Amino acid sequence: MKSTAFITGANKGIGFETARQLATRGMTVLLGARDPELGQAAVDKLRAEGADAHCVRIDVSDEESVAAAAARIEADFGALDVLVNNAAISGGMEGDGKPSSGSLAMLRRVYETNVFGLVAVTNAMLPLLRRSAAGRIVNVSSEVGSLGGRTNPHNPLSQMVSAIPYTSSKTAVNMVTVLYAMELKDTAIKVNAANPGYTATDLNGNSGFRTVEQGAEPSVHLATLPADGPTGTFFGYIWGQEEYGQIEW
Ligand SMILES: NC(=O)c1ccc[n+]([C@@H]2O[C@H](COP(=O)([O-])OP(=O)(O)OC[C@H]3O[C@@H](n4cnc5c(N)ncnc54)[C@H](OP(=O)(O)O)[C@@H]3O)[C@@H](O)[C@H]2O)c1
Repeated sequence: MKSTAFITGANKGIGFETARQLATRGMTVLLGARDPELGQAAVDKLRAEGADAHCVRIDVSDEESVAAAAARIEADFGALDVLVNNAAISGGMEGDGKPSSGSLAMLRRVYETNVFGLVAVTNAMLPLLRRSAAGRIVNVSSEVGSLGGRTNPHNPLSQMVSAIPYTSSKTAVNMVTVLYAMELKDTAIKVNAANPGYTATDLNGNSGFRTVEQGAEPSVHLATLPADGPTGTFFGYIWGQEEYGQIEW
């Protein structure tokens, strides 16, 4: 039977490309989009390439929208094999971009989507993932949120000044990933975090040095892990080493 994958924030960027790559591996892909017109346009593009693609309206920061998306997926597909928590916002730049110049309003806004939204979607989709013989949850994180990288003087991340909202939201995503992996360790569901690497998308004004095709690869890898694959890991592009592997938490 065909596997079904739900990807949030899939109308563009890394999420769209993740949907495309999962579709080429034979999965039915459900593209989560908060704007249904943008979502349908993305679905139409993938269908033109032969994909079995469907649009699911979801604003991850709105609990009613999340519940409605879960109900829609249950009604139309019955179960879910893959959840890619991809939707996120950067929050943009406030002041000089240093930790001390950011507002609490921005911190709250970024957490609503990147952290609270991810938890809301995961909890809403878990009953559907439990019906799969091989559930996979991929939380799209970022190396910028790696505490290990930030505190390791040999890692270039230790030299980078960053504002609190986006960076710490990804640190929270990392811990959330570990906690779900621990809770689900005796089930068929694997929970891992992906690091796309610095990828050219709207999130960063298309300044990234990696393509979306490359940026989607860690998510696709973790979404298609075999039964003996890992859970509770942080996998993806290793900055400075130009290769894929485990990222320090
Ligand atoms: N690009 C990079 O260098 C990079 C590096 C590391 C990690 N990442 C991570 O990769 C993931 C994808 O980012 P991207 O670079 O592809 O960014 P992007 O092109 O800006 O795409 C972000 C997607 O998330 C959606 N989204 C934002 N808020 C949402 C909400 N409340 N509900 C539902 N969808 C929402 C956006 O929808 P709209 O079109 O409606 O805004 C869009 O589809 C993110 O988790 C990001 O943190 C990116």
